[in-house]
Amino acid sequence: MAKFTLPVNSIVKEGKVFKDNFSETPMLKTILVYRYNPDKSENPRVDKYILDTTNFGPMLLDALIYIKNNIDSTITFRRSCREGICGSCSMNIDGKNALACTKGIADYGDEIKIYPLPHMKVVKDLVTDLTNFYKQYKSVQPWLQADEPLDKSQERLQSKEEREQLDGSDECILCACCSTSCPSYWWNGDKYLGPAALLQAYRWIFDSRDKKQKERVKSISDSFKLYRCHTIMNCTDACPKGLNPAKKIAKIKKLIVNTA
Ligand code: SF4
Ligand code: SF4
Ligand code: FES
Repeated sequence: MAKFTLPVNSIVKEGKVFKDNFSETPMLKTILVYRYNPDKSENPRVDKYILDTTNFGPMLLDALIYIKNNIDSTITFRRSCREGICGSCSMNIDGKNALACTKGIADYGDEIKIYPLPHMKVVKDLVTDLTNFYKQYKSVQPWLQADEPLDKSQERLQSKEEREQLDGSDECILCACCSTSCPSYWWNGDKYLGPAALLQAYRWIFDSRDKKQKERVKSISDSFKLYRCHTIMNCTDACPKGLNPAKKIAKIKKLIVNTA
């Protein structure tokens, strides 16, 4: 039988335990958080925070902010809008990628495990390195490309049907929950564009005002960039905005077949 070994310093160890100040009628939850600091030559660890949830708001992001402000200021995570719009607080919560600001603490069990987005390099704790993810987004040239300039009093009009083609793509907040839940992206993230970048490719390929459809399709149409998608559908299951990147990727593939 094949035997796999992990580098010793990659093994996640048991971490510290922190206890909150409890109120007279506490409602307890334990939050387990992945901790890693590349500046220290220590293994990653999982710290345990035993919290009284009556001390803060109802969402998981409220718990993390409370920990940072009151219990352990060294904990590191991204957040900005607190209402599911900026995509910053994406992380892996009890095994599923999600936005911490849209997940209610009451919807989880007594123990909640929080890890960074899977298969990504960790910058620190829950913050992953999204450099490649944004580079891939940039590579699909996510802006309108039309040859004819318009004078400033005009607009580029679309019919209702043309606009409907973009539904389900321009709502993407680039949180990376989909790409980092995609097995093809885990193994080939350097060459496969992944569902988020492909959804954005779709958004411009199917924009009736854009004049570079052929060039856009050609630039992604190779066995890795596009065809590493095997329609496993993890991306669609993971999207916190209810989008369906897998379906849009299939539409790009169909367009290629129909226009070949
Ligand atoms: S459908 Fe494609 S993009 Fe989505 S998870 Fe599967 S392989 Fe990845
Ligand atoms: S498609 Fe959904 S999961 Fe993927 S980046 Fe956009 S909002 Fe996030
Ligand atoms: S903080 Fe903006 S999406 Fe969660």
